Amino acid sequence: MKHLIAPSLLAADFGNLQAECEMINNSDADWFHLDIMDGMFVPNISFGMPVIKAINKHTLKPLDVHLMIENPDRYIKDFKEAGANILTVHYEACPHLHRTLQAIKAEGMKTGVALNPHTSIDLLEPILEDIDLVCIMSVNPGFGGQSFIEGTYRKVAKLKELITKYNLDTKIEIDGGVTSENAKMLLEAGADVLVAGSFVFKSKNPTQTIKELKEIIL
Ligand code: DX5
Ligand code: ZN
Repeated sequence: MKHLIAPSLLAADFGNLQAECEMINNSDADWFHLDIMDGMFVPNISFGMPVIKAINKHTLKPLDVHLMIENPDRYIKDFKEAGANILTVHYEACPHLHRTLQAIKAEGMKTGVALNPHTSIDLLEPILEDIDLVCIMSVNPGFGGQSFIEGTYRKVAKLKELITKYNLDTKIEIDGGVTSENAKMLLEAGADVLVAGSFVFKSKNPTQTIKELKEIIL
């Protein structure tokens, strides 16, 4: 499968969200990556339901919603209603992860689990078949524009090995500090989805930057 590109709207111009959405619609991007932060699980607050709903009105591509919030179980239905297609929760925020994933599936969404940089891939082995997308954080969650953590490659390779071992379709997503410098090596290690915020939106020509990420050949 060709890899997917999911621009993170966190780095977009919030004063011109409709135009930013249209740029992504007309680009080679595959998904919209939306970062939801609650000021508790992470030290930052981003945006919530009303903004997701507004974005959803202008999107033609799946919404990949990344929850950096405590106790996400409270809002699963609301995120579905707001337009989420993939709902990713943090391993570190879910004491009953299996139950949370079943609740996401029951709402008809794809399940995602994100891992902080210090969280081991091995922890997902018992429930890997219930996860459609593993989001490997390559920065500490909470802010855009941070530098990529090199240990990520090892985690990607290890997860790829597990997915292959159990013959699963689980996708590997990388989130944080992705640039054209590390994208190829991440794909070679086994990544399927690259999230890119600053690298896309702070570039001179975001459409072209997305195209370049999409066209990386292995
Ligand atoms: C970080 C978020 C990321 C962020 C990525 O907590 O989960 O999705 O927007 O931004 P960049 O690509 O700028 O690191
Ligand atoms: Zn994210």
